[in-house]
Amino acid sequence: MTMVASRLAKRLLHYGLHSYGQYYQLVKNGQHPHEFQLMINILTTNETYFFREPKHFEYVQEHLLKKWRGDNFRLWSAASSTGEESYSLAMLLTKNLGMKKWEIFASDINTEVLDVARRGVYLMNRLENMEQDYLDKYCLKGVRSQDGYFRVDEKVRNRVQFDQVNLKSQLPKNLGLFDVIFLRNVLIYFDKETKLDIVRRVISVLKPGGHFFISHAETLHGLTVDLRMIKPSIYQKL
Ligand SMILES: C[S@@+](CC[C@H](N)C(=O)[O-])C[C@H]1O[C@@H](n2cnc3c(N)ncnc32)[C@H](O)[C@@H]1O
Repeated sequence: MTMVASRLAKRLLHYGLHSYGQYYQLVKNGQHPHEFQLMINILTTNETYFFREPKHFEYVQEHLLKKWRGDNFRLWSAASSTGEESYSLAMLLTKNLGMKKWEIFASDINTEVLDVARRGVYLMNRLENMEQDYLDKYCLKGVRSQDGYFRVDEKVRNRVQFDQVNLKSQLPKNLGLFDVIFLRNVLIYFDKETKLDIVRRVISVLKPGGHFFISHAETLHGLTVDLRMIKPSIYQKL
């Protein structure tokens, strides 16, 4: 929170403003068109890590990938932040589907995190949950000036397409349908009405029978949506 406050304070200083109210007016009046995106980038919370909530990855592997007989497995990581979730999934799919046809679409509203995600370079100390096997097979350890960092291997990176999508607005027309959607640790930031709106919009591009994952810290309780709960945080579209 202090970081957000100090980053916003810098914007106030930049424009010589005296209050957050004045800054809000400046963003709203549209005279500085890039400021809106900058404000979004400052205000969003982007915490994430590799193989966060490992039970979800186990479920995808055991119940979906091992039984997969379809022709193109399509997965959407719908609040991808800096890419750790999307690349964890890409490693899992590489391991289990190999050369079969599959693709991952990953999106976020924040353009800064999307830039980080596309680069695919991370600090070695962000690896708590990653199995050594994944690190050995799908990551390249940095040397010399890159010491302490690793990069997700190109063959995994190339399988993930990152793009900006605001979940509160109409979805891009050309998304197609997905077999699996991850929408984790983002609903917590919205009120019930917005949550319902977002979940309905997102699952409109989930195939019937497709799987939908939210965080264990979140709930769809009280929302009327076309999903049946398989276990807490894992749903299937009716
Ligand atoms: C805490 S991160 C979650 C990252 C990852 N899904 C995970 O569980 O580790 C939440 C992400 O949601 C994004 N976000 C917030 N509001 C959004 C919106 N309206 N549309 C798309 N993404 C949004 C933020 O930019 C942030 O990167």
